[in-house]
Amino acid sequence: MSLSIRPATDDDFELYVRLLPELGVDDPPAVLEKWRRTQRDDTLVAENDGQPLGLVWWQRLEGSGYVRQLITSPGARQQGVGRALMEAVAWRLAAAGCNTWQLNVKPTNIAAIALYRSLGLHRDYGSASFKVEWPLLERLPSGETARLVTEAEEAEVERMLGLPPGQVTNDRRLGRVLLTVGPPFTGLAAFNPDYPGAFPFRAKSPAVARALLEAMRAHSKPGATFAGVVLENDDALAVALERAGAFLRMKFDHYSGSVKAPHAP
Ligand SMILES: CC(C)(COP(=O)(O)OP(=O)(O)OC[C@H]1O[C@@H](n2cnc3c(N)ncnc32)[C@H](O)[C@@H]1OP(=O)(O)O)[C@@H](O)C(=O)NCCC(=O)NCCS
Repeated sequence: MSLSIRPATDDDFELYVRLLPELGVDDPPAVLEKWRRTQRDDTLVAENDGQPLGLVWWQRLEGSGYVRQLITSPGARQQGVGRALMEAVAWRLAAAGCNTWQLNVKPTNIAAIALYRSLGLHRDYGSASFKVEWPLLERLPSGETARLVTEAEEAEVERMLGLPPGQVTNDRRLGRVLLTVGPPFTGLAAFNPDYPGAFPFRAKSPAVARALLEAMRAHSKPGATFAGVVLENDDALAVALERAGAFLRMKFDHYSGSVKAPHAP
């Protein structure tokens, strides 16, 4: 196989829609216009003889990179496509002066974890994705109020909540509804009403979580009865949400590491 890596074009939207279910998460595909606006320019495609075999969607934050989707076509696995895509991202991150990179992976994804470990990434912490039906908010403590994040507050929100520098700014670029409690900032929800769900979702207490979720409900599409949230490294809030009746959808792990880019693609 003679692999080449190239930037995605509009013609690759069909590849994205076809491969997305391979991630085994229930995210619906973005529509073309949204994919073009938020993902296309940060997507690389691996091809052999003009045949697209896989893709990676990645984001450059301030000094670090975030791999959001890596997928090889089922018929082309274990032939170096995934590694070539990850190395292409590493090379681009290194060229841009980014020293670290991160991603999320299901703990059961043996193939992906072997690939990531071989690239020097290691597990930082576990995360959990919950489905929250609106009526259960009544069972969480109240007393906090959420509001929209201003552009001037983005860096401080990232700093106070331990988010990678640039992530909130990037989420605004993706069209997320950015909600916070504070200052001092005790929570953030980057809400995507199309999904519907929030990632990242950080809340320093169940009352802050309730305020963010109530604000998400206010920004939801008509008729939406629930939203998803991803809790990162926050077992205490996970217990509080489960006790309130939230449904645990999926667990996954956050990995990060130094970018090593041995050669140009
Ligand atoms: C994970 C995935 C992208 C790997 O792509 P791939 O093109 O098959 O990977 P490669 O052929 O480049 O293999 C790279 C490394 O991955 C590991 N690997 C790949 N398939 C493996 C398998 N079935 N079992 C164990 N390790 C495996 C190996 O470490 C391999 O390195 P090696 O070839 O030097 O031994 C692919 O399995 C996939 O698309 N899975 C479904 C979507 C998904 O889970 N994406 C990751 C989400 S976090």
